[in-house]
Amino acid sequence: PTTPPMQRRLASKMRFVADLSQCLFDFVIQLLPTTEEMAVKEDVRKLLERLIRTIEPDSRLLSFGSTANGFSLRNSDMDLCCLIDSKERLAATDLVTMLGDLLERETKFHVKPLPHARIPIVKLSLDPSPGLPLGIACDIGFENRLALENTRLLMCYAMVDPTRVRTMVLFLKVWSKRRKINSPYKGTLSSYGYVLLVIYFLVHVKNPPVLPNLQQMPPLRPITTEDTHLAGYNTWFFDDIELLRQRWHSDNTETVAELLIDFFRYYSRDFSYNTGVASIRAGLLKKESKGWQNDLSGGRYNDSRERNRLCIEDPFEIDFNVARCVTKDGLYTIRGEFMRAARVLSTRPERAIIALAELCE
Ligand code: GTP
Ligand code: MG
Repeated sequence: PTTPPMQRRLASKMRFVADLSQCLFDFVIQLLPTTEEMAVKEDVRKLLERLIRTIEPDSRLLSFGSTANGFSLRNSDMDLCCLIDSKERLAATDLVTMLGDLLERETKFHVKPLPHARIPIVKLSLDPSPGLPLGIACDIGFENRLALENTRLLMCYAMVDPTRVRTMVLFLKVWSKRRKINSPYKGTLSSYGYVLLVIYFLVHVKNPPVLPNLQQMPPLRPITTEDTHLAGYNTWFFDDIELLRQRWHSDNTETVAELLIDFFRYYSRDFSYNTGVASIRAGLLKKESKGWQNDLSGGRYNDSRERNRLCIEDPFEIDFNVARCVTKDGLYTIRGEFMRAARVLSTRPERAIIALAELCE
């Protein structure tokens, strides 16, 4: 007896999806940083902290970005933030200059102090060595407490559903790097922007949602504005992950592969790029309501139009568009890549590994 075509197609789809999920896990695992790499990075952080303390004794040097939020790939750069706990402290500009000189004298790093950048930083890099075949790249910034908080928020999201969230995010980071659509300097989107797109999709697009909205959950005890605000922004979110794991269960049982296929489909045709703002805090917002609309009256040099092609609200700095660097061409390329990915996955080649290879070539 022959199986009806419908059933055969369904069976083949289910096989492909299961196969693709397994391939995604295997693919991502081999790209994680090694224990050795993480240890070297921690040693570097400690060394730099010790040196900075010779200038500012009350300072701490903390990791943020991918090294601290669980979305790190092998050889990713290190984002470090220096916090100074005393009231009397040097201005960031002076500190950057002094630290630059010190590191130049005392270490093997290549040092580039940028004291007059919008956010003053010291850029460091280390040449490859046997323990670090690709060297290290590291940025040290100062007093960027909001970045430490958004790193913690992303880390908490990663911990709510580690397998699905981390696999999706890590895959998208590799994919966007390989497809060359991960450079704000060239008009495309930062890793941080892609992570926010994934979380937005899992919290607000998927129904039932894969993740809860940590910024809208009721706090366990009364909190005051003083507890929650940093630099004028509300940075509160539910961060008791142990408790959350006991109390919150997603009714969404889709596999990583199904979610990824749907992610590409959503961002290739369903997201309203012209009028919408993706906000993990508040769901889909209107550009108009944030004053981020593409104002046609300003002609071709209208800055707001160029800055707000793609709108992703920062979770805390809500007047800040994380995708402000994405240009018209950049967005066209990114959307083209989302479409290509959706197409490659919908053709379901015989083996999922072939689809993955084609996706990232
Ligand atoms: P890789 O370096 O590619 O591994 O990714 P990453 O996860 O470190 O992301 P990225 O380098 O893009 O950003 C690092 C951190 O800087 C983020 O976790 C944020 O804390 C902060 N950050 C980056 N871009 C922005 C931005 O546009 N706005 C704000 N507020 N913070 C940002
Ligand atoms: Mg980084």
